[in-house]
Order: sequence, then structure tokens, then C-alpha cells
Amino acid sequence: MTNEMINDIQEVLYSEETIAEMVKRVGAEISRDYKGKNLLLVSVLKGSVAFMADLMRAIDIPVRIDFMSVSSYGSGTKTSGVVKIIKDLDIELEGYDILIVEDILDSGKTLHYLVNMLKNRNPASIEVCTLFDKPERREVDVFAKYKGCDIPDAFIVGYGLDYDEKYRNLPYVGILKPEVYGG
Ligand code: IMP
Ligand code: MG
Repeated sequence: MTNEMINDIQEVLYSEETIAEMVKRVGAEISRDYKGKNLLLVSVLKGSVAFMADLMRAIDIPVRIDFMSVSSYGSGTKTSGVVKIIKDLDIELEGYDILIVEDILDSGKTLHYLVNMLKNRNPASIEVCTLFDKPERREVDVFAKYKGCDIPDAFIVGYGLDYDEKYRNLPYVGILKPEVYGG
């Protein structure tokens, strides 16, 4: 890892090992609950890519995957409230047990919109799995049945999560030094 990136990190909140343990635990819960079902993991690009890649390998039952891309953020750290579909799913959802895989649940606006949109496509069931959750920040109601952990109200990067499209490739999760985003 280049110093350039590491130098921007104020504090590591979740190490690679801690993240791996959370992913394993969530994968086991999903494997148990979806046995005999028709599981389709829906990853919301791009933040959930690292989580999705590890989570699917922590699941030991048959699973299909698909990706969609929505945008709810500009280059800043606050949600715009506008959700735009950039890339839709390839698979027709009818009959599938959908599990939306997200990196982080913040205001909840993105997922609230997505869940309602995908419900209209008549899946057999639909649930949410998020690696991180900031419950204090919630503005609209969203229930994540599967969760890595709750985190305090701070802007985090790494393991898929970005600031201005950077830091997604950090193998751990940390908080940025305030000066990085002019704070
Ligand atoms: P929400 O619609 O406010 O729940 O926003 C969810 C999306 O905002 C996530 O999928 C992330 O892309 C982004 N986001 C929210 N909090 C953070 C953070 O702390 N770091 C990086 N991205 C975040
Ligand atoms: Mg995201």
C-alpha cells in the first residue's frame, strides 16, 4: 500500500481480520436462513464490491449474483437524496429470494428507494444485508436483516468505501484526516 493513501488515514477502525470475521458470521447466517431457497445476491455498485466478493465465498449454499449501479452521492460526504439508476439488473427477479448487499446504510434513502423498486418486480422475498450501519443517521425507515456492525456517525473509507472515488482498495476500514476533505 502506498504511503500516499495510508498518510490520509487518521485511524483504522476495522482491520482486515475483523472485517473477515464479520463477513464469515453474516455468510453463515445467510447460508442457514436461505437453505432450499432461490437466493439471488444483488450488489449495489461500487461500494459493496469488496463485501460482495468476500460474502459470496462465505456462503455455502447455491447462490446467484447480479449487480446494479445507482448514484445517490456526488463527490462529497452528504447524500443528495436523489437516486438515479445507472445500471439495472440483468436477471428478472420473479421467484427469487433477493438479498440486497450494501456497503453501508446511512440516511437509508438509497436502500429505501431500491427495496421499493425491486419489490415491484415480484420477487419471492426481499431483504437487506449491509456491512456497516449508522443508525443515528437514519432519515427513512430501512431494516437490514443481516448486518456486519453498527458504527458511529463518522465518514469511513476502505474495503470498497470511497471518498471522491478513492480509498476503495484499502484492505481495512478507517476514517480520513479532516484536512483530506477540507474539514
Ligand atoms: P444513504 O442513502 O444515505 O443510506 O447512503 C448510502 C450510500 O452512501 C452508501 O452506499 C455509500 O455509497 C455512501 N456512504 C454513506 N456513508 C458513507 C461513508 O461513511 N463512507 C463512504 N460512503 C458512504
Ligand atoms: Mg454504495
